[in-house]
Amino acid sequence: MKALVLAGGSGTRLRPITYTSAKQLVPLANKPILFFGLESIAAAGIREVGIIVGDTHADIESAVGDGSRFGLDVTYLRQDEPRGLAHAVLIARDFLAGDPFVMYLGDNLVVGGIDRFVRAFEESSSDALVLVTKVANPEQFGVAELDPDGRVVRLVEKPADPASDLALVGVYIFDSAVHEAVRAIRPSARGELEITEAIQWLVDAGRSVSTEVLTTPWIDTGKLQDLLEANRIVLDRLETGPVTAVEGTVDSESHVSGPVVLEAGATLLRSTVRGPVVVGAGTRIEDSFVGPYTSIGAGCTVRDSSVEHAVLMDGAEIDGVERLCDSLVGRGASVRRAHERPPALRLHIGDHSEVRLG
Ligand code: DAU
Repeated sequence: MKALVLAGGSGTRLRPITYTSAKQLVPLANKPILFFGLESIAAAGIREVGIIVGDTHADIESAVGDGSRFGLDVTYLRQDEPRGLAHAVLIARDFLAGDPFVMYLGDNLVVGGIDRFVRAFEESSSDALVLVTKVANPEQFGVAELDPDGRVVRLVEKPADPASDLALVGVYIFDSAVHEAVRAIRPSARGELEITEAIQWLVDAGRSVSTEVLTTPWIDTGKLQDLLEANRIVLDRLETGPVTAVEGTVDSESHVSGPVVLEAGATLLRSTVRGPVVVGAGTRIEDSFVGPYTSIGAGCTVRDSSVEHAVLMDGAEIDGVERLCDSLVGRGASVRRAHERPPALRLHIGDHSEVRLG
């Protein structure tokens, strides 16, 4: 069994962050989303992994390297344009050879791993296995219609009028039959070769496509609210449990409670941190409150502020902000109160940024 991890694409829904970084590298509890998937693949006993990369290939390659730190052997496969998930299978043909493989979307967080699904596929005689889960907004995903025995009847990509509330999760397992399917289909209305249509092609060709229902949390981190929710889920499972892991410095006027990871060289001065929270290496928090479900990257500064339910990426600076919440702040970005008269908003924000004033 091999794995094909998709880490290309354009990430338009997470702009402006994705103008400068790959969406698969946005951190959840200070760890890139992509790493959670790679760890699950390694835990399922898979070693050989092909990673599809696009314009952001340099960032992905420098973050993942040769994969050895995950116990994986990684090969990078360059996709010229995001031409669709089935196109990724098409260009991975030589790498995959005739082997069965797990296809894993690099922006998906699947809590609980994939081991059980890999075993179920190996014990079945199916040509493909898809994971489905109930969602409130099926029109935003591939949607599966099943017969009473749980067999796939029809799969439709982002239907306006969904036939069920079962979304396709971004983890699929295929045998070599999929290669014929991805060659047979044509680009969809959005100009992509859809894996959903390739799987439908398998169903129509009489191949057996089985389903497994995912009952653990799953998030497609394509949009801000989903990303914050994924960060919340990961922080809720911090390995420290109720214990507070403090590698940094906490002065006598600061208070730390709940699961909090304070990485090496982080400093708390006259501040309160209420977990679950992670604070990255070298970050300085002064005269501030950091509330639950906040991930603060390395080398950040938080001063005279209150931050809650937010992700601050490396080098971010928050100064004099009364209450920052539900926010994603990019690398090296700063939000500061300027003590100038007359009070005014002075903004320097990137294309497609969003500022919501309370
Ligand atoms: O997350 C689950 C959903 O993923 C499924 O329910 C849908 O059926 C499936 O089509 C897919 O929908 P999305 O619109 O969310 O896919 P997205 O364009 O976000 O791409 C998913 C990942 O694959 C992402 O990490 C980027 C990468 N990618 C995407 C395309 C189109 C590539 O590497 N190459 C590509 O050509």
